[in-house]
Amino acid sequence: MDKTQIEKILSEVRDLKCKTAKEVEDARVRLLGKKGEITALFDEFRTIAKEQKKEFGQQLNLLKNEAAQKIAELKAAASQDPASSKPSDDVTMPGDPFSLGSRHPVSIARQEIVTIFRKFGYDVAEGPEIEDDYHVFTALNFPENHPARDMQDTFFVSAGHLNPLLLRTHTSCVQVRAMENLPLPIRIICPGRVFRNEAISARAHCIFHQVEGLYIDKNVTFADLKQAILLFAREMFGPDTQIRMRPSYFPFTEPSAEVDVSCNICHGKGCNICKGTGWLEILGCGMVDPNVLKASGIDPAVYSGFAFGMGIERIAMLKWQVNDLRHYFENDMRFLHEFSRCVEV
Ligand code: PHE
Repeated sequence: MDKTQIEKILSEVRDLKCKTAKEVEDARVRLLGKKGEITALFDEFRTIAKEQKKEFGQQLNLLKNEAAQKIAELKAAASQDPASSKPSDDVTMPGDPFSLGSRHPVSIARQEIVTIFRKFGYDVAEGPEIEDDYHVFTALNFPENHPARDMQDTFFVSAGHLNPLLLRTHTSCVQVRAMENLPLPIRIICPGRVFRNEAISARAHCIFHQVEGLYIDKNVTFADLKQAILLFAREMFGPDTQIRMRPSYFPFTEPSAEVDVSCNICHGKGCNICKGTGWLEILGCGMVDPNVLKASGIDPAVYSGFAFGMGIERIAMLKWQVNDLRHYFENDMRFLHEFSRCVEV
């Protein structure tokens, strides 16, 4: 028997750390059990010379007492820890609760817009986010040197070709593909993500979402356009909503208009959301330019149509009075949880 062996076990006892009741029990068996390290030393003690017995006997008793006390302390601590006392195999226990995610507010608004137009008989059409210059600009009657083709607004994927690839700046290109491919009459909405090389601010982002619409048939008039937008606005913002149309310009529509809805916060009286005007701008629209119909092989002498386009983030900001568009892209859980109770229509 040697002293260093006893000291080694003693320092091991002093450093002993156990988290669970099982670990404490394992340590007890390893040290003080029938075949434990300390028990083995007591067995050895019986065989040593008489003159050594006094010294070793004292040390061994000290070790045994300290180990027993430490085990008792660890056991008491572990039994207070609920994790160690939890029966691990009780299959009747209820499961841990977990929270379901919820739809992103932009998805909720998109779904709401789509549902409203589906009720009016519109189909949903989708197209590629990487488009060519022809479908985004040329077929939509953009003049050769129109600033929207400029690098300032458009992210080009491959520059320098005759028909370069680019990230679509609006979903009007989906309407062009529909006019090329679908039988007449056409009544579609085109929800999707669009990209513009713009500085990120409270009102603008380089990635955002649009829903654009197109209706082409015989005898479609501006009155049909006005009625469709009015019905949409009332479904979206409430039955008392008014609209007003202001003359505007888009290369692909003639005449063109921008549409405002009466402010749903002050109901036309004037507040800081509508900047005192009582009106909020929601979309652009117009009668499809005959050049656009011609470019897609539709005879403008027989058919006419209207188109409109709106930003989903803008509609969502107005609907839920969000004052900064960047909230929609930051994924702050506190913001997103605000929408977890929104019921889909
Ligand atoms: N394409 C236009 C835009 O992105 C919106 C629009 C669509 C305007 C259809 C008129 C008609 O700003």
